[in-house]
This record gives sequence, C-alpha cells and structure tokens, in this order.
Amino acid sequence: MSTAFRPKIEPAEQERSFRSFLKPRGIAFKGALFAGVLAGGLTWGGGQYLMKVDFEGQAKESGIALLAHAEVIAKEIGNPIDSGDSKKAMDVLHKRLRAIPHATAFLLDAAGEPLLPGAPEGDGKTLAGLHEVIDGVLLGGQGQAKVLEVRHEVRGRLLSLGTLYIRQDLPAPIWAGGIVVLAQWTSIISAVLTFLFLSVSIRGLGRLHWVLDRAGAGDFYERAPAVGCFEIRELVKKTHDVLQRVGASQEVAQKVYVETAIALSKTIEAKDRYTSGHSQRVTVYAVEMGEILNFDEDRLETLRLGALLHDIGKVAVPDDVLLKPGALTDDEFVTMKRHPMAGDRILSAIPGLRDMADIARSHHEKWDGTGYPLGVAGDSIPLEGRIVAIADAYDALITKRSYKPAMAIEKALNIIEADAGTHFDPQLASLFVAMKRNGKGYKPLPSAKAVEAPRKRPKEAL
Ligand SMILES: [Fe+2]
Repeated sequence: MSTAFRPKIEPAEQERSFRSFLKPRGIAFKGALFAGVLAGGLTWGGGQYLMKVDFEGQAKESGIALLAHAEVIAKEIGNPIDSGDSKKAMDVLHKRLRAIPHATAFLLDAAGEPLLPGAPEGDGKTLAGLHEVIDGVLLGGQGQAKVLEVRHEVRGRLLSLGTLYIRQDLPAPIWAGGIVVLAQWTSIISAVLTFLFLSVSIRGLGRLHWVLDRAGAGDFYERAPAVGCFEIRELVKKTHDVLQRVGASQEVAQKVYVETAIALSKTIEAKDRYTSGHSQRVTVYAVEMGEILNFDEDRLETLRLGALLHDIGKVAVPDDVLLKPGALTDDEFVTMKRHPMAGDRILSAIPGLRDMADIARSHHEKWDGTGYPLGVAGDSIPLEGRIVAIADAYDALITKRSYKPAMAIEKALNIIEADAGTHFDPQLASLFVAMKRNGKGYKPLPSAKAVEAPRKRPKEAL
C-alpha cells in the first residue's frame, strides 16, 4: 500500500501520542490499588471474624465457671450486707475475686446506686456491644479488650438487696497482633502481583492506543504488535482489519481526488496552448531534483503530485486574466497571485494531501522573502516548494509564451544562476543548473545571435 498520502506527525502530536501510550498503564495501577485494598480488607475482616469466634468460645468456657463464682459470692455476701457488716462483705468479695483471674466486680442496688459505697472494684460502666453468649453469660467490649460479664442477685434474709456484677477480661488470641501486619503484606503482595499480571496482559493496549490516535488524525497505516492476553491480541487484530479497510477506502478516495485535480489542472493548461504540458514538464524537472537529493519513494511521489498540481489554484482565476496575451496589469497580477493560496485550500481539503498543498502554496515564494503569497524566506519555504519554484521558472523561460519566444536553455540557466540567493535557493539553483548542463540534450549556446532575448520579461513565471 502506498504511503504517499500519509499525514505528517507534528511534534506536539507525537507528545500527545506518547502521553496516550501511558494511559493504559492506569488500568494496571487502578487494578493493583483495588486488589491491594480488597485483599488487605478481606484479610483484616477475616481476622476480626476469627477473633470474634475465639472470644465467643472463651466466653462459653469461662462463663459457666464465672456464673458459679457469682452464685457463691452472692450467697456469701448477702447476709453481711443485710446485717450492715460491710467490711465482712467486702473481705469475702475480695478474697473470692482473687481466685478468679483478671476479674473485677461491683454491686448495684435496685436504683442502680452502689450497694456498698467505696467498694468493691469496677466502674460499673455498660460494656459496648454487650450480648448474651449463653444463659446468664454476657460478652462486651471495653476499649480494645473483650470482657465477660455475669450477674447474680444478692438477697438478704427476706428481700432482694441488689445485683452482683462480675467481669473478667478475656485474653486476645496470640495471633491477634499479627492480623494488621498480615493484612498489610497481603495487600502489598496482591497489589504487586495484580500490577504485574495486568501489565503483561494489557501490554498490547499502549501501542494500540497510539495507533487509534494516528487513525483519528487520518493515518491508517500504523500498526500495533499483537501482544498481551488473548482478548487484547484479538482486539489488536480486529482493529488492524478495520484500519486496513478504512485505509484502502481512503486511499481510493484520495487517488480519485488527486486524479480529478490533475485532470482539472490539465484542462486549465489546455485553455492556453502556450502553457499546455507545463505542469508535466515541471514535474519531470522537480522529480529529477528529488532523485538527486535522495528523496525516498514516498517523498518523491509527494513531490511528483505536488508539482503536477502546483498551479491547480488557477481554477479560481478568471479566464480573461488567465488567458490574457501579453503582460498583466497590476490588478490582474493581484488576481493571478491568489492562485497559490487557492491551490492550498483545494489540496488541504483532504488531510493526506497536506504536503502537496504546501507545494502549491509556496511555489511562488522567493528565497529573499519577496515572493508571495506569504513572503516567507529561506528555509521557511518548504524544500519541495523551492524545488518546484526553480522547475516552474525554468520551464516558463525555455517555452514559448504569448508575450515572449522560447529562450535557449543556457540562457535560462544563466538567469537561474543570476537569481540564486534572491529568487531561488542558491544551493538548489546550483544543483539544478549543474543537473541540466550535465543532462541529456544539453547544448551550449551556439552563438550570441542565436539567442533571442525575451521581448519583455514577465513579472513572474506564473
Ligand atoms: Fe504558479
């Protein structure tokens, strides 16, 4: 498939494409983050559940014994409290509590007030999340700790005096402290593994993204390697199939457009017998120059089409100006000078013809900046435009026009040499002159008389 119509990649566009290349990496980052949070969260949550199960088991085991302790203590302190012997009640309570590991107790009357002021131990605050594990055995939290609680009525000789509360701290399982560390490592390892997996799986997406960016700019010829997981490889292949078809359709459309433009250009030239065949001859000279400059095939094809179409903008010039015999008036010249920009507009209508549009626009620019339509100078004029400018002027000089006879080749070459550095790129002008003098059919001037000077030099080779 010819790539002569491929759009140029501007630096800014390359930069955008590079950033686009990084975009799919975001999937790997996001996936890794999600996996890390999920794995860490599940590990931590699982640990919390196992701790809950462990505490429930401890509560069932310890709760029965604690209930028995509560029953004995309640019975032993009931009579001393009823008889007002608080000291004895407290002694009994403390003695019994010492036999129960990590235990505290407190006594409340029916109104919720301490039954024995100043004693016994325990703050009496309600435990968080308190719930019944088995009959009479409650489990709740106090800060980070899990606490078992049993209650037993304290009775005097006749009446109920209050309630005995006994609480016992339950030890956390030995692995509890490792849950957070385990969750952290699980999170990190999951994130890293997910990132690596996704990076390998989607690595074909980066280049594909760039390829689609290029397709959006009208270039359907870039391709991405089919790498990564099966789905990505299939996506790359299907995208290539679509781009192949779209590219082929676009190429056909561009060729039809170019052929139509060439036919139109020939029609315009054919109106004037003096300029008939001008574009074809300019094309021959320009391509010869391109070959000497080692242009690659794509660039030579662009130069060939650009030279063929360099005067396509004359379609916008009225016939009375275009075909006028003799020199143009100033107003007519202004009208004629519009044809480079008109050519630019016609050819830039299709993105793939941008380079040819540049040639049409710039073939009347001059090296010293006094040309038209933009008046740009030196290297700011596209190289192909500078080549066509020389070829265009040379052909105008050596062919007969309505306002002048044909000029001898050597005389025309002398003029091009004389205008090097003002009208023409000096290096290209030297190259062109040397090319013609060394080329086939070149003959030096036979004599001064044989060279007929132009009656009037045109303002420009139009
Ligand atoms: Fe022209």
